[in-house]
Amino acid sequence: MQVFNEQYLAGKRVLVTGASSGIGRQTAIALAACGARVCASGRDATRLQATLDALAGTGHGLLPLDLNGDDTITEAIQADAKAHGAFHGAFHSAGVSMVRPIKMCKRKQFDDVFASSVQSALAIARAMSLRGVMEDGGSLVFMSSVAGLRGQTGMSLYSAAKAAMDGMTRSLAVEFAPRGIRVNAVCAGAIETPMHSSLLTTLNDDSIEAYRSKHLLGFGQPDDVANAVTFLMGQGGRWMTGTSLVLDGGYTVR
Ligand SMILES: NC(=O)c1ccc[n+]([C@@H]2O[C@H](COP(=O)([O-])OP(=O)(O)OC[C@H]3O[C@@H](n4cnc5c(N)ncnc54)[C@H](OP(=O)(O)O)[C@@H]3O)[C@@H](O)[C@H]2O)c1
Repeated sequence: MQVFNEQYLAGKRVLVTGASSGIGRQTAIALAACGARVCASGRDATRLQATLDALAGTGHGLLPLDLNGDDTITEAIQADAKAHGAFHGAFHSAGVSMVRPIKMCKRKQFDDVFASSVQSALAIARAMSLRGVMEDGGSLVFMSSVAGLRGQTGMSLYSAAKAAMDGMTRSLAVEFAPRGIRVNAVCAGAIETPMHSSLLTTLNDDSIEAYRSKHLLGFGQPDDVANAVTFLMGQGGRWMTGTSLVLDGGYTVR
């Protein structure tokens, strides 16, 4: 479902992490349909190539990266900008889910969840702050979740990581504002992706129905996030910064 003009992001170069699946893939497709040149990042080479093949237009590229929180992420993004041109923006979608009771949450699980989301977001922001990597007036969007706003059994680590994304977004918005760079997060409810499907396999039918009915408008689609990110990436969102945009089909209303 294309709701934005095909010239909305013409000439803009955008990094998309998690582009090999789900929300990241659909957003890469949506951004390209609006004229952006996409640098698609992920780990799985086959699925990443499938995303690249699905992008409209020309000038797209791949940046295979394991977002393990390492400082080399910053260097890889900097090198890509040097080779292919500065970024107008980035959408950091990569992340892993974690549902387990607190007694089963040890340092390893903490590192797994925080590395791909929080530490990598910081590494991306660090890269974008370096000379020549990002254009002034650009836009950074981080993938957050309603899990950072509402409590649920088994979600402590995941909720902590997403709440960290929201806090980081506000401070980065202040730090990047002098360059006219906007920084926002999207707090999504349940979106039907491979991550969502694997979560549902742990629930019985009644629990799935209860989970669905908490979303007043039902579960969301990757397109719903892609449209919000596209808006934030371009001029439509030019007066929005430091926001955690709740996009949840009514999950947090009551
Ligand atoms: N689906 C939902 O209901 C929902 C709701 C709210 C927020 N979110 C958030 O939305 C984001 C995308 O989720 P999704 O539903 O689209 O999940 P998904 O389909 O499982 O996709 C996850 C993506 O993250 C990438 N990724 C994970 N760990 C990585 C790592 N260490 N290095 C590089 N890439 C890594 C995966 O890459 P590879 O496949 O190449 O390994 C994949 O492209 C996540 O941050 C998630 O927390 C999802």
